[in-house]
Amino acid sequence: MTGVGIDAIEIWTGKLKLDLPGTFAPEKGDDPAKYTKGLGLHASSFPDTYEDIVTMGANAAKRLMERKGLTPEDIGRIDVATESAFDNSKPVSTYIAGCLEQVFEGDFRHANKGERKFACVAGTQSIDDAYNWIRAGRNRGRAALVIATDTALYERGDPGEATQGAGAVAMLIDEDPSLVELSPEQGYGSMDETDFLKPNQQFPSVDGKRSVQVYLARMREALTDYESVAGKTHPEEYVFAPFHTPFPGMVRKAALLGYRHMIRDTEIEEALADEIGMQPREEECETEEEYLDAVREYTDALKGTEQYRAWYARTIDPTLDISREVGNWYTGSVHIARAAALKRALEDDMDIEGAKLLVGSYGSGAQAEIHHETVQEGWQEEIAALNIDEQNERRYDLSFAEYEKVHQVHNHDEDVEVEEFTVPEDEFAFDGWGRMGERKYRYVE
Ligand code: CAA
Repeated sequence: MTGVGIDAIEIWTGKLKLDLPGTFAPEKGDDPAKYTKGLGLHASSFPDTYEDIVTMGANAAKRLMERKGLTPEDIGRIDVATESAFDNSKPVSTYIAGCLEQVFEGDFRHANKGERKFACVAGTQSIDDAYNWIRAGRNRGRAALVIATDTALYERGDPGEATQGAGAVAMLIDEDPSLVELSPEQGYGSMDETDFLKPNQQFPSVDGKRSVQVYLARMREALTDYESVAGKTHPEEYVFAPFHTPFPGMVRKAALLGYRHMIRDTEIEEALADEIGMQPREEECETEEEYLDAVREYTDALKGTEQYRAWYARTIDPTLDISREVGNWYTGSVHIARAAALKRALEDDMDIEGAKLLVGSYGSGAQAEIHHETVQEGWQEEIAALNIDEQNERRYDLSFAEYEKVHQVHNHDEDVEVEEFTVPEDEFAFDGWGRMGERKYRYVE
């Protein structure tokens, strides 16, 4: 059987922008460097008044279907991953299919539709479902449409407010893919955690500091689990390592721990020994505390080495190019990290066909998943078709007072009327409520 993976990808950002160091930080009385240097964020995307998870997802999917010349009959499955759903029964995929049927000939009557929930890891899980469906031979030659769409909003005043974002990523999963082939090997780190949750509420309850620790712990478990099936990892094995990016500073922490793990017992650890010593071994320490202190000291020293900095600049930094400008997109975040890295490779004219990516997804609650992907022959054409830079450039730059209104408009408990900031054109837009309490959408020419 031929490989299965991501054949095409399209990204749709919310059409509004909040400048974090320029607009948000001064109102909060924060040093702008907390955002640009600490969290690693410059701006967040927000949905305009007529945008939501359905419009963003449908707009990304429409671009993808048009570019690939697809009709609804070519799609056997539509899975939407989101943690911003507004209906506990009717899945977002049915709304998105309804939108697409307004503009494409035919319908998705015989496509299996669903909605996946496990915080931010659900986008990757939906890709898994599609992969398994194709591998099982149940797809009848059809491809799967996976859409990760979220409005990542936090309660006003919550520390998470600095890491908001909104956007959608549509991906076509198919045999003989043009972009990346997925590895059958996967690793998981999964535990019952209460780091971030939304118990029947729109805005999350977050234990921010703990969520960072849980992310690191589950990623580490996923990496060792992955190694148990795929063999030991080595930092030079992967051209890029896209990770779930709630904010780039989180990935900076994860990357350092990942690198330390990967260089253990390698020629890189040996080569660094003169400068920073060898990594501490647990069996050589008398107590666990002594071991943990020694590990912390080694990790701090590793961060400053030329080898680590060069690896980070090559393998991790390119994955953050889009996140820095749009914030957290929850289920879509790891997928914009992959796209950002491949985009940088295209801009730098890199020859990466056949190269491997190490992909780390994470969802609070909590589960991390790690697998690898192999870059395919058609990657340049696929990535060249993205227009995320233009979309980001076109966003309406909100003042703080306007941001406050936008937050209110998207708060399900508030009923406020706010004029739209941008004019919808060639896209789906929210069109009010139906008699059953359903949301309605129309395509605006
Ligand atoms: N110059 C440079 N750096 C600065 C600075 C300055 N002037 N001021 C602060 N910083 C640095 C801090 O040192 C810190 O970096 P380190 O962690 O490396 O020390 C960073 O900027 C952030 O500062 P704080 O820790 O003081 O920020 P905070 O307490 O206000 O909030 C947060 C940080 C807890 C992550 C918060 O944004 C939050 O709760 N976010 C939502 C939860 C989240 O994203 N968690 C991530 C893991 S969970 C996940 O991944 C799932 C998901 O998508 C939500």
